[in-house]
This record gives sequence, structure tokens and C-alpha cells, in this order.
Amino acid sequence: MSQFDEVIPRLGTNSVKWDGAKDLFDREGVVPMWIADMDFRAPKPVLDAFRCRIDHGIFGYTNSVEPMLDALIAWNKKRHDFTINRSDVLFNEAVVPSISLALRSLTEKGDKVLMHSPIYTPFFRVAGEELDREVVTTPLEFRDHRFEIDFSDMETKLKTQDIKLFLLCNPQNPGGRVWHPDELKKMVELCKRYNVPIVSDEIHSDLVMEPFIHTPLVKACPEYQEQIITLMAPTKTFNLAGLKVSYLIVPSEKYREKIEAWQKYVHAAGINEFGQIALCAAYREGEAWLDELRAYVLENYHYAKDQFERYAPEVEVANLEATYLMWLDVRKVAKDEKKLYQDIIAAGCGIQLGSDFGENGKGFIRLNIACPRATLEKGIACLIKGIQK
Ligand SMILES: Cc1ncc(COP(=O)(O)O)c(C=O)c1O
Repeated sequence: MSQFDEVIPRLGTNSVKWDGAKDLFDREGVVPMWIADMDFRAPKPVLDAFRCRIDHGIFGYTNSVEPMLDALIAWNKKRHDFTINRSDVLFNEAVVPSISLALRSLTEKGDKVLMHSPIYTPFFRVAGEELDREVVTTPLEFRDHRFEIDFSDMETKLKTQDIKLFLLCNPQNPGGRVWHPDELKKMVELCKRYNVPIVSDEIHSDLVMEPFIHTPLVKACPEYQEQIITLMAPTKTFNLAGLKVSYLIVPSEKYREKIEAWQKYVHAAGINEFGQIALCAAYREGEAWLDELRAYVLENYHYAKDQFERYAPEVEVANLEATYLMWLDVRKVAKDEKKLYQDIIAAGCGIQLGSDFGENGKGFIRLNIACPRATLEKGIACLIKGIQK
């Protein structure tokens, strides 16, 4: 039995995923397989570090920047062979706020921001709705169970639309693609040709399934590093999203100064003590937990894929190269999207429609499989029932 088989009730813990499901799906008892957090306890070293701090009992002002830098630099070197300069790192509470910071610092109102479609929803919400940038999308094509980049469309848009920034998700959410170094290089070459800086959200970088390997964008193209901002965090990796701790890697001094100016402007409070403890403990001692987790998620994926093949063969399942978010092509399931959604929710599975992630996500479903096998079995059975209805 795996530690991840334990079913830990989350209802009544103010969990967005569980307690928020009733309002979102307008129904009780739905197995929530939507928002990206996991139904697993964080690594024991993190919990032990919290307990130790709680027993100490004093929570005055703290500054753990140096230990956090040591921990994240060692982690990235070991896991991704990625060398990070201490002076390039800025801390910020979470990755979505960092997307906002980077956009404010590098672009102006009305500027055009390029991104793939489908893409993690806050990319276009923050850029478009919140910051009044103009969102330009370039499609990801779903071919042979995975997304492919349309480089020709990307180039046309960079060439003709006066794009001011490219926002990349590396690895890709939704869809779970791990971009190959050649694909990363090609994207950078295009951006370089049209002098466009890149923000690379790498929050899913540790959740890569074997045999795939995450390549940080800067590592693939060090010659363009001054024009790349990388966003990373231990929160998705170790299920710590509620703790709010993340960092930006900004090799350009000019961009760093701009971002820091924005942080000062809003009096950003820095990382809270428990976020600092979590980052250090997870990066120093969480590796074995993470390797077990990735294997468990992959087994969940194979279980779910097998169930679809047996009972809903019209569903095409994307390969899971990274993330714990399955991507299902339901375009051959003969129902309109709204009806399909309602049928699946009524059957008891809380999914997210691909269209939440933009126009090119239409006809797909995103499914969070980071849960104990018993929860997964229940959720998948409901989902298939909803599809068959
Ligand atoms: C690509 C991507 N970026 C950022 C986030 C959220 O990060 P944070 O909670 O640090 O804002 C997510 C969460 O699912 C994500 O998938």
C-alpha cells in the first residue's frame, strides 16, 4: 500500500476544491476533479519542520531569504541541471501574481501579449481582463495524443502583430506536454527575431513523468536569458498551494529593477514564515516523496486510460508527459458541450471543460487525477456514466 492510498477527508477544511465544489457544481457529493491541488498530505519533512516551528511558538518578523536561496538553487541544480544565480532570484507570494508583476513591468496597457491556446486560464484573464493588455493566441494542435505548436502561425503573429511579450507555459497546462529543447529553441528563435521577451511559467517543472525531462527555457537558450523571466514554485510539486511561496528568476537587471519597483509600490509583504519553512524543507528533503508521487500519479493515469479504453473508447486520452491533469478529447462523444458537462456533473464527477482554457480547448475535458486510487475509481466511474448517458 502506498502512502498516497490514504483517503483524507477535506470537506470542512475550507478547501476550494472540496468545499467549493457544492456551489460550483450546484450539487452535493460530486467527486471534485477540477482545480489543481492534490488530495495528498504534504511530505513528512515539511510537516515535521512546521511542528518544530509551532513548538517554538514565536512568530515574529522573519527573514529566511538566504536559506530559501540555498534550497532552491540546490534543488534546481539537482533536479533540472539548472544553474540559478542568487542575484537573479526574486520572491513573490504566488505564480499568478508574478505573471501580473511581469506583465506590468514589461508591457503597457493595450500592448499585445502572445500565448498558446488552450492555456491556463489566468494567463488570459490577468493579461486581458485585469491589465488591459490585448491577448493574441496561437493555437496548439492536438495530434496523435498530444499538443503540437503551430510555429508558422506563431511566426505570422510575431511578424505582423507587434507583439510585446510571449507568455509560455513550460510544461504545458492544460494538456501536459513537456516541451522538447528543440521546440523551446524554435520558440526562442522566433521571439529573438522580433525582439520579444518571454515569461516562462515553470510551476509544473517538477511534475514530469518518466522518461520525459523538463528543460528550463533559459537552459535551452542561455544566449537569450536577459529576455527571459522564469516563474517557479514548490507549491504545485509538494501540494502547498495554500502557503503562498514562489520565485521569479530574472537575469536582466533592468527587468529586476522594474519588478522590484512594482513590489515596493504595492508593499508586497514577502513570503510568510510557513511558506519559507515549506520551501526549505520540501526542496531539502522532499525528493523521495516526489518520486513516489510521480509514480503514483502515472499509475492513476494508466488506470483511468484503461477504463476509458474499455468503457468509453470514443474518448481520446492525451499522453501524460507532465502534471497530474489528464486531458481528454471528447469531440467524438456525440453531445453538445453544455449537455455533456451537465451529464457528467449529474453523474457525480466534477470536471473542468477544456473551453475554460480558451477557444482551442473546446471539445476537451481536464481531469485532476492527484487523488487516492479509491477516489479516482469513483470519479472515473461517474465520469464514464455521464459520458454514456
Ligand atoms: C501553469 C500554472 N501557473 C500557475 C498556477 C497557480 O500558481 P499560484 O497558485 O502560485 O498562483 C497554476 C495552477 O494550477 C498553473 O497551472
